[in-house]
Amino acid sequence: MSRKNVDQKVKTAVLISGGGSNMVALVQAAQAPDFPAEIVLVISNRPDAAGIAKAEELGVKTLCIDHKNFKTRKKFEQAMDKTLRAHGIELICNAGFMRILSPWFVGSWRGRQLNIHPSLLPKFKGLHTHERAIEAGETEHGCTIHYVDEGMDTGKIIAQAKVKVLPNDTTEALAARVLKAEHKLYPQILMQIASEELQTQN
Ligand code: GAR
Repeated sequence: MSRKNVDQKVKTAVLISGGGSNMVALVQAAQAPDFPAEIVLVISNRPDAAGIAKAEELGVKTLCIDHKNFKTRKKFEQAMDKTLRAHGIELICNAGFMRILSPWFVGSWRGRQLNIHPSLLPKFKGLHTHERAIEAGETEHGCTIHYVDEGMDTGKIIAQAKVKVLPNDTTEALAARVLKAEHKLYPQILMQIASEELQTQN
C-alpha cells in the first residue's frame, strides 16, 4: 500500500454475496470519525444479495458485479479489479463473499485482502462449518480472520474469536453465536490493520 497523504483513511472495499451482516458491522464501525479506514465501496457478486440494500441504507456506494454476466472467472475478476482500482481501494475485506478467487486476483491483492471464515481455522475449511463442528463433538468453535491466499481458507491467520459449543446446540444457535463474535472481531481487526498501515506511512 502506498499513500501520498497520511491524513487519509485507508480506502477499503467490502465484498459480499449475501446478508451482509459483517459488512454492516464494518461500515458502522468505520463511521466513527477517528476510525482509520473508510468503507468506500461495497461490491456484491449477486444481484439478490440482501446486503446491497443494507449498504445503500448506510450511505455506502454499492455495486453489483454479477459473475454470471462474464464468460470466464478471469473476466469477472478483471471487472472487479478495475472497479476496485478506479475507486483507489487499498484494502479489501471479504465478508461472506462466496466466490473462489483465482491466483491472478489473489496475487494482485496479496497482503491487502482479508477474509472472515466461520471456524477456528485450520479446522473446518469450506462450507457448513457449524454443522461439522457440532458433528465432530467440538466444545469450542469460532471465527478466523486471515489474509487471502491461493488456497481455500489457508491464508495467514490474523485473529480468531472463540465461542463455546453448548450441549444440544443447534446449527442455527451456534451460527448466531459465531456471527455475533464475527461482528465484534472484524471491525477490531480492520481498525488494527488500517492503523498499522497509517503508522507505516508516517
Ligand atoms: C459469515 O458467517 C462469514 O464468516 C461466512 O459467511 C457468513 C456471511 O454472513 N463466510 C464464509 O463462509 C466464507 N467462506 P454475512 O453476509 O451476514 O456477513
